[in-house]
Amino acid sequence: MSNELKSFLEGLDSLAQDCESRKGQACSLKELEELRVEFLGRKGKLAGMMGQLGKLDNSEKPEAGQKANTVKQAITALLDSWEAELHKAEASEALSKFDPSMPGRKPWAGSLHPVTLVMDEVCNVLTGLGFEHAAGPEVENDWHNFEALNMPPEHPARDMQDTLYVSDKIVLRTHTSGMQIRSMLKQEPPVAVICPGKVYRRDSDLTHTPMFHQIEGLLVDKNVSMADLRGTLTVFVRQIFGSQTDVRFRPSFFPFTEPSAEVDISCVMCGGKGEKDGSTCRVCKGTGWVEILGCGMVDPNVFKSVGYDPEVFTGFAFGMGIERIAMLKYGIGDLRMFFENDVRFLEQFA
Ligand code: PHE
Repeated sequence: MSNELKSFLEGLDSLAQDCESRKGQACSLKELEELRVEFLGRKGKLAGMMGQLGKLDNSEKPEAGQKANTVKQAITALLDSWEAELHKAEASEALSKFDPSMPGRKPWAGSLHPVTLVMDEVCNVLTGLGFEHAAGPEVENDWHNFEALNMPPEHPARDMQDTLYVSDKIVLRTHTSGMQIRSMLKQEPPVAVICPGKVYRRDSDLTHTPMFHQIEGLLVDKNVSMADLRGTLTVFVRQIFGSQTDVRFRPSFFPFTEPSAEVDISCVMCGGKGEKDGSTCRVCKGTGWVEILGCGMVDPNVFKSVGYDPEVFTGFAFGMGIERIAMLKYGIGDLRMFFENDVRFLEQFA
């Protein structure tokens, strides 16, 4: 054996010993990685020794190469075993910090949107009074949305609702009243339907959004009177806002009802006193009343367009915005909160 081979093999042995003696330095995975680079890296100690291989006689190279491989495997195994030890220590440390008596983290649970909650409640009260649910298209034709409701083309009342047109004769429904027409066309009186759903208007400010939710009701039969309307709405309002709620009817105008009225309830914030905590009530502005819906006796022209005889049948209709009811019920001051999807707002209704 040549001297060169001898010193090469000795060099490899001491490399292995060197690595073994460094165990104390591998206290963390990061330090261990540094050792791995120092010994086995591309510019590491073992690679440095392999550079010397070329100086050996060709006949001695196989033995030297074999030994280098053995040493490389030994160092790798050593570092691997240290790494496994470190992993184990880390895991048991984490386990020792784990306190099984701590309360668990609650999973997030969704909740119904306040508009959905109020819509459901309003529907429940009205179906409890005998109204049936009717659903219809949000994209509506001009005839159902306007013409059959006593609003012929060019009728100035069309300006009351800023309409979003899909095409000349097709609109996004501005109210759910079109559904009442559909319901009447489908059957003979008596008719008692409620039509809940999304409606659209070209309107956007602090108190208006281009889409909002509405529910309308319709009752048609023989001898339906304004007194029936008043009784029905009073029962309805007291179920939603509480039995102390007062109701008043103010004369108003809608093309599809005659006579028409707007309905106010005693203010939900100040109880009708007009002031709260010594200052003017911000909800009713001191009047003691807040408006919640529109209503009236179905106009004979509407009956004519669905083929009902206005000499035989009478009926009442009413319509309200659900967001408005929800704002009054929950004391919400800003309509936009319903559409911002802020979880801090929404989770209060869970
Ligand atoms: N359709 C009316 C609106 O959207 C509400 C209403 C319905 C008024 C029924 C009277 C009778 O404003």
